[in-house]
Amino acid sequence: MFYSDETVEEVRTKNDIVDVVSEHVKLQKRGGRHWGLCPFHNEKSPSFSVNGDLQVYHCFGCGAGGNVYTFVMNYENFSFPEAVKMLADRAGVQLPEPEESEEGRKRESRRARLLAVNKEAAKFFYYQLRTAQGERGYQYLKKRELTDETMQKFGLGFAGKNGAVLVQYLRGKGFEDEVIQEAGLASHSEKYGMTSQFWNRVMYPIQDINNRVIGFGGRVMGEGEPKYLNSPETPVFDKRRNLYGLNYARRARSSNIILCEGYMDVIAMHQAGFGQAVASLGTAFTAEQAALLRRYTDQVLLAYDSDGAGVKAALRGIGILREAGLTGKVINMQPYKDPDEFMKALGREAFQERILQAENSFFFEIRILEGQFRLSDPEEKTRFHREIARKLCSFSEEVERDNYLQAVAEKYFIGVENLRKLVRGYAAQTGLVKPVERPKSGVRPKTSPEDKAKRSQRLLLTWIADRPGLYDRIKKYISAMDFTEGVCQRVAERMFRELEEGKLNPAGIISMFEEESEQREAAALFSADLPGLETEPEKEKAFRDILLSVKKNSYEYHVARMGTDVSALSRAIEGKKALEELGRAHISLD
Ligand code: CTP
Ligand code: MN
Repeated sequence: MFYSDETVEEVRTKNDIVDVVSEHVKLQKRGGRHWGLCPFHNEKSPSFSVNGDLQVYHCFGCGAGGNVYTFVMNYENFSFPEAVKMLADRAGVQLPEPEESEEGRKRESRRARLLAVNKEAAKFFYYQLRTAQGERGYQYLKKRELTDETMQKFGLGFAGKNGAVLVQYLRGKGFEDEVIQEAGLASHSEKYGMTSQFWNRVMYPIQDINNRVIGFGGRVMGEGEPKYLNSPETPVFDKRRNLYGLNYARRARSSNIILCEGYMDVIAMHQAGFGQAVASLGTAFTAEQAALLRRYTDQVLLAYDSDGAGVKAALRGIGILREAGLTGKVINMQPYKDPDEFMKALGREAFQERILQAENSFFFEIRILEGQFRLSDPEEKTRFHREIARKLCSFSEEVERDNYLQAVAEKYFIGVENLRKLVRGYAAQTGLVKPVERPKSGVRPKTSPEDKAKRSQRLLLTWIADRPGLYDRIKKYISAMDFTEGVCQRVAERMFRELEEGKLNPAGIISMFEEESEQREAAALFSADLPGLETEPEKEKAFRDILLSVKKNSYEYHVARMGTDVSALSRAIEGKKALEELGRAHISLD
């Protein structure tokens, strides 16, 4: 852990989860909890719940959950220390100097070294571009109509033909060969020693949102292969979670963000005054990047290449944006290939027009679909209409679906009623339009013995969290040792200790876990609804069954380990005794 447990706990208690979540999600109070639309998946009716008493949240739709830290980490894409820092600032808590573990310190210093070597390399490339050796690169960028100011803003540079110079320069600055290699700036071979990765290329430094150079893209001069060479993934260069140009775009004060395919597109757009342009990093657009964009906008305009590959990428991108709850529109670049060429040919005003005319992503999808059918053939035309109906089924909200249905019917001259019939037929056939069912409890029934054991351990903890008074009545039968499943065991240990001391603190328990998946699991324990049982005797029986099942599993677990673990024998004997006693005992719930 980075900060002491006390600090982490102090900061947490000073940030009420309902307040923090409310800053981003509209919440409504209902039945002791607050409900809203989940910010972590796309939904139309609220299944995201925040419990102010327990200071935890849980989504019954996608399973997201945790305490205020988990929320901030996921919502803002922060690491744990970043979340602590942000929430400490929010509550006006002065943070002590972080108390780092040996391992944490090593990791941080390695990251710092990589950032430092990247920064130095970026400087080197930058100066190279402005020397005689860089003349070729400079002329190339000039020919692409970039101004000196633009080149400077994006820190563009040049990697010359002599690959040894960079390595010498970096060594001179005190960087070990190991770091230079790890950053992907050079590689080592027996024959040639250290040689630079980038060679005869214009260099685009890639910055994160805090303007730190995390990697490079290099474009070859002339026709060489590959056209673009990018730094490999490193501990500071995560291609799935960063976007080129976002460090500027996030300050652009624009209501939308324009997503392009290439570095050059972003640069040309910024130069023309569209400071909200970004691009992915030589890889396809990802869900993580969509989540990142959602921090700054709710509308993304796709400015992908107008060729087949670009259309395919746009279709993919639309799906990802939709999943993330962002509105996507598509900018038509015809007859030009990409924003860079468009801007050169027609200029900023024409592009502004295209932004206003950007096509709703659903209509874009339908239009592309249309191209795959020969509509003069009645057979194919029918298939086209069926496909439209199928696509309409992806709108789970009826009003929205019907609005789209009417619009698309009008546009493609299809009878509205006929299309409705098709949609209904489709829906009935596939169950697509059925509203998403909210599970009654966060725990889904599964079948394997391990799953069954896990399920009863979870349920038992949920019961105790719900009615802490039960603990005193069952503690002579059960202990944390009976929980054989990882997260449950750690939760039980801490929970029972806190109950002994008379101060149960669920949100604090969640902070124990560093892995997000574990936090989510722990939060689910405190948020799940108990099975909907009516009468007290029914509930008593259910609780007893769960208790017995946990105990029985624990007994079997320890028996199975008697051969290898000496203490397992005594545990098994005790377990057997407790199990028998439990079989005779009556445990009342109130
Ligand atoms: N790209 C890549 N590797 C390649 C080709 C492309 O990583 N071999 C990535 C780069 O990030 C590039 C983007 O895909 O910016 C778009 O490719 P392309 O359309 O070919 O790039 P342009 O920006 O149009 O390149 P240019 O105008 O410099 O020819
Ligand atoms: Mn181009």
